Amino acid sequence: MAAYWRVFLACAVLLRLTLALPTCDNVLSILPGKVFVPDTQFYNDSISSYFYLSGQQSPSYIVAPATADEVAIVFKAINDCSIDHVAVRSGGHATNPGFSNADQGVTVDLRGLNDIHLSKEDPDLVSIGAGALSVDVYDVLDPLNRTVLGARVASVGVGGFLTGGGISFFSAQHGFGCDSIRNMQVVLANGTIVEANATSHPRLFRALKGGQNNFGVVTRFDLVAYPQPAFWGGAVMYPSEADAAQLSAFAQLKMSAEYDPHVALEQTFVYLGAQKTYSSTNNMFYTKPVANASALRPFTDIQPQTSNTMRISGASDFATELEGFQLKAQFAVYATLSLPVSATMLVRVHEMWRESNPDLVAKVLDITSTMTYQSIPPPPVADASQNSLGFASNATPQKDMVLLLFSYYWGNDKDSTVVNTAVSELTKSVQEAFGDKDSYKYLNYAASWQDPIASYGKESVRELIQVSKLYDPTGVFQKVVSGGFKLGV
Ligand SMILES: *[C@@H]1O[C@H](CO)[C@@H](O)[C@H](O)[C@H]1NC(C)=O
Ligand SMILES: *[C@@H]1O[C@H](CO)[C@@H](O)[C@H](O)[C@H]1NC(C)=O
Ligand SMILES: *[C@@H]1O[C@H](CO)[C@@H](O)[C@H](O)[C@H]1NC(C)=O
Ligand SMILES: *[C@@H]1O[C@H](CO)[C@@H](O)[C@H](O)[C@H]1NC(C)=O
Ligand SMILES: *[C@@H]1O[C@H](CO)[C@@H](O)[C@H](O)[C@H]1NC(C)=O
Repeated sequence: MAAYWRVFLACAVLLRLTLALPTCDNVLSILPGKVFVPDTQFYNDSISSYFYLSGQQSPSYIVAPATADEVAIVFKAINDCSIDHVAVRSGGHATNPGFSNADQGVTVDLRGLNDIHLSKEDPDLVSIGAGALSVDVYDVLDPLNRTVLGARVASVGVGGFLTGGGISFFSAQHGFGCDSIRNMQVVLANGTIVEANATSHPRLFRALKGGQNNFGVVTRFDLVAYPQPAFWGGAVMYPSEADAAQLSAFAQLKMSAEYDPHVALEQTFVYLGAQKTYSSTNNMFYTKPVANASALRPFTDIQPQTSNTMRISGASDFATELEGFQLKAQFAVYATLSLPVSATMLVRVHEMWRESNPDLVAKVLDITSTMTYQSIPPPPVADASQNSLGFASNATPQKDMVLLLFSYYWGNDKDSTVVNTAVSELTKSVQEAFGDKDSYKYLNYAASWQDPIASYGKESVRELIQVSKLYDPTGVFQKVVSGGFKLGV
């Protein structure tokens, strides 16, 4: 904020000549009635609505625009008044501190941009404000037997989810969430509003699909609304006696010659430090209204089970259930790798994770440590609109690779460094044992000390840097909006 105060006089003199424009001597005037300071109800509610404590920094101001025009006004003011520390949030589900919240800066809270609008002309299209939560979209579409490639967790915001790639219940069939975007309304760094799609600003369109917050603020997504009836899914929990059977079932699924695009499965192993106990859970879905689908039998047959919620239901219900498993209001770190499939790897990585837990729990008594295996979605086919994630269109990561997620939760910020160090060492050991250091890292699962954008490959990074120079020549999204994975320019 220092630079802001230094320039405010000059700005104020200039701008006061033009009525109706915000004045730089008072951030509150940027959007009258929609700027909030600490110790107000709106501010408190906004901060406590960040899912993890690690996202709950203390901005000096929270600005809450409700339209793209208001977001544009905010960005013009950020430039005109040289405000130097800004963050943009939609759902506020990020684990990485400062990614969607600007400590002592200005946080732009997009939750007011939450319209969900079905196209009258085209039943296959739905327009969604970037601040809408995934569950709100499912609530509108489930009754119509339609769906979007949204998040599997209810309160994940559409904006962060889609610009990071996005893995949905339906991704094995339809690809990454970002590949279902037909058009985006984007506020550029200078406050200009553009429509980015395959024919209008196509390079920006592609860059935003995986490039996170490096190019502009997406205020609206026009997404494919896929026909989708209710489907079978839920969660099955097992005690640790089932670990070997679990790992073997996962290997069988991944190594089967048959690729079933209706299977969505997250296999999670859980260590509860407070109780020093292990267990596992499968969140699994078969995206057709088929109870007891044979494709999931290798998992549903595993015994013993401690709970089982498999049923036919809709995306809203499932996303609400999965959110219930997440440890709200804890400090959290996610870290990720993608690894070539092999039965040996699956077993050994699980072992390495288990071996790392005793040391950590000795230092952080309340640690919850989890590791998850799941699949990577297929990349877009050659003649489809491409994304930035760097997969060749003939690549088959959905078959060849396993996406590994480590996620850790703890209650006290004083333990954050210890946990991050432990997770980073474990991630490094796994990568050295089984990974290729350049292989894909899913941005929405990456720790702040990882570099998912570099994992998209040199060609993709070069293009992203050029697009940044074209659309944000002064580097607002590199320097001022400093949270998130940056391009290093
Ligand atoms: C906001 O939160 C602070 C810190 O928890 C609390 O002291 C204050 O009373 C709250 N103010 C309002 C208006 O809710
Ligand atoms: C959705 O699908 C169910 C089950 O097939 C059917 O009963 C219902 O009428 C459908 N709803 C709409 C709006 O098409
Ligand atoms: C792409 O943007 C142009 C310019 O705004 C618009 O006319 C066109 O309808 C958009 N295409 C799609 C698929 O939204
Ligand atoms: C599915 O399996 C459960 C548990 O074995 C059983 O109770 C249920 O009747 C089965 N449903 C169908 C449609 O086969
Ligand atoms: C805003 O930025 C875009 C992209 O760099 C540029 O094309 C446009 O001319 C700029 N508009 C103004 C008013 O400066």
